[in-house]
Amino acid sequence: MKSPLVEKFQELFGAEGNIRSYFAPGRVNLIGEHTDYNGGHVFPCALTIGTYAVVRKREDRRLRFYSMNFEQLGMVESSLDDLVWKKEAQWTNYPKGMIWTFQQKGFAIEQGFDMLLFGNIPNASGLSSSASVEVVTGVALRDLYVGNTEEISMIDIALYGQYSENHFNGVNCGIMDQFAVAMGKKDQAIFLNTSDLSYTYAPIKLKNEKIVIACSNKKRGLGDSKYNERRAECEEALAELQKVVDVKSLGELTEEAFEQYKDAIKSPVRMRRARHAVYENQRTLQAVEALKAGDLAAFGALMNASHISLRDDYEVTGKELDTLVEAAWKQPGVIGSRMTGAGFGGCTVSIVENQAVDAFIRNVGKIYVDTIGYEADFYVVEIGDGGQVLE
Ligand code: GLA
Repeated sequence: MKSPLVEKFQELFGAEGNIRSYFAPGRVNLIGEHTDYNGGHVFPCALTIGTYAVVRKREDRRLRFYSMNFEQLGMVESSLDDLVWKKEAQWTNYPKGMIWTFQQKGFAIEQGFDMLLFGNIPNASGLSSSASVEVVTGVALRDLYVGNTEEISMIDIALYGQYSENHFNGVNCGIMDQFAVAMGKKDQAIFLNTSDLSYTYAPIKLKNEKIVIACSNKKRGLGDSKYNERRAECEEALAELQKVVDVKSLGELTEEAFEQYKDAIKSPVRMRRARHAVYENQRTLQAVEALKAGDLAAFGALMNASHISLRDDYEVTGKELDTLVEAAWKQPGVIGSRMTGAGFGGCTVSIVENQAVDAFIRNVGKIYVDTIGYEADFYVVEIGDGGQVLE
């Protein structure tokens, strides 16, 4: 049966030729926040929601894009001779950034394409809708222009996504989002060491609990947020620490070592930023151990501690996320709750006992609307696979 997306593609771009379909998920990070650009560990998983792309290679150099999430933009036209970031190009900067990156990495892309996109991740919510578009484009480009999966691995696609985000879109993000989106596996979280990209999968066997995401609906763009500023603060704190201790990243420090050397950091603000990076990395290691030991309560307590550190030391939460998390902590059947992703808006992630989920959504939703003045959206999510070609 023809998928509704292929039908829509044919209606917009014509029915002829080799029309291919692809998918890449969104992600949620369970713990390990703002550690990925500090050489620390992260523990994200891919979701079953994500971005679908239908793509057909063209003979000429034109690029035509259509997103069912931004229908008001209509068909957006460009070409391979116009691979530069432009504000008005909006979401098409992500696929264009990937083409540009493939070219930078030495892959010849001399023919354009037509692309239809549909995503069921809430946009700009901190669930990596942009990494999802990057990875789905990467999978499509590999399939249509390279063909050989030996030559470009899924980890390469993740790295290209990050490269394009850093150098084309101007956001200095770490590798977590693109890695999770490219490498996700059903019912598994990814325990990734960002200092060398070594990773293992950890099964998330929740029998009596669900993962519930609450979206604050406070929109944020990573580029104009304080993300790059936090990253610079950590780099500065590291440089100060390096005067007294031989480390390559904050992720190399234990809590004890940090306490021993922290006076080298000359500003209290930078000290708190670095403390978060060090302690959050250690919490992530402990959380993975707790999960292995089947101690979900300990895992939840570490999630809560992560939020407090992001709120007080790293200062990336804000009233919306704090309201959601603090309301969640008060609900019965909540194992743990924290903000997830970059922060400054976006989503929280909570682990909630099955029988408590409905009341959780009702109660936290009410407290949120009463405090903030607009509604939050809730999603009970499943852990899914990473980027792929759809048959
Ligand atoms: C964003 C970035 C990631 C990571 C998180 C914070 O999602 O894209 O690289 O830094 O913020 O953990």
